[in-house]
Amino acid sequence: MDYENLEQHFRSGAKLMILCSPHNPVGRVWTEAELFRLQELIVRYDAIVLSDEIWADLAFPGNRHRPLASISPEMSERTLTFMAPSKTFNIAGLYLSNIIIPPNAGLREAFCRQLQQISLTHVNLFGLVASDAAYRCGGANGLMSCLFICGKTRSSWRPNFLESQIRSK
Ligand SMILES: Cc1ncc(COP(=O)(O)O)c(C=O)c1O
Repeated sequence: MDYENLEQHFRSGAKLMILCSPHNPVGRVWTEAELFRLQELIVRYDAIVLSDEIWADLAFPGNRHRPLASISPEMSERTLTFMAPSKTFNIAGLYLSNIIIPPNAGLREAFCRQLQQISLTHVNLFGLVASDAAYRCGGANGLMSCLFICGKTRSSWRPNFLESQIRSK
């Protein structure tokens, strides 16, 4: 994470940051130390983070996803966490994301007001049922097999791809 660049933006008046954690597309799982360092900046400049954690369930073994809001009470007050079962269970397109917003500071009201203005307040019944079924019955075993297959594909594909695409250029 480029903290110097971030700090420049905050110094120039930026008040909101979008974090993708784990990162898409590079697949980076931010470490606790990195998130703590980010927190120092966010708290110092009194900014807000929209933390997109939709890939949280798909961290490869050896990596541990740490929700940004869990870093500290100060960070929790300044974080809106975006999650969904769509990546974990491959059920995209059903309008089933969920957003965790701290109850203080008027953030939730402000967010809901914006949603109303763009008519995004409706819940999709299929999405609700699918989310419930995914979390209730999707199963840790299914998730582990998915990670295992993705891990194998990644370890065989990545070196070949890099070799053929980068070395030849
Ligand atoms: C980081 C990230 N956030 C959000 C989305 C959107 O997810 P959904 O298809 O559930 O709307 C994607 C989809 O690729 C994504 O990679």
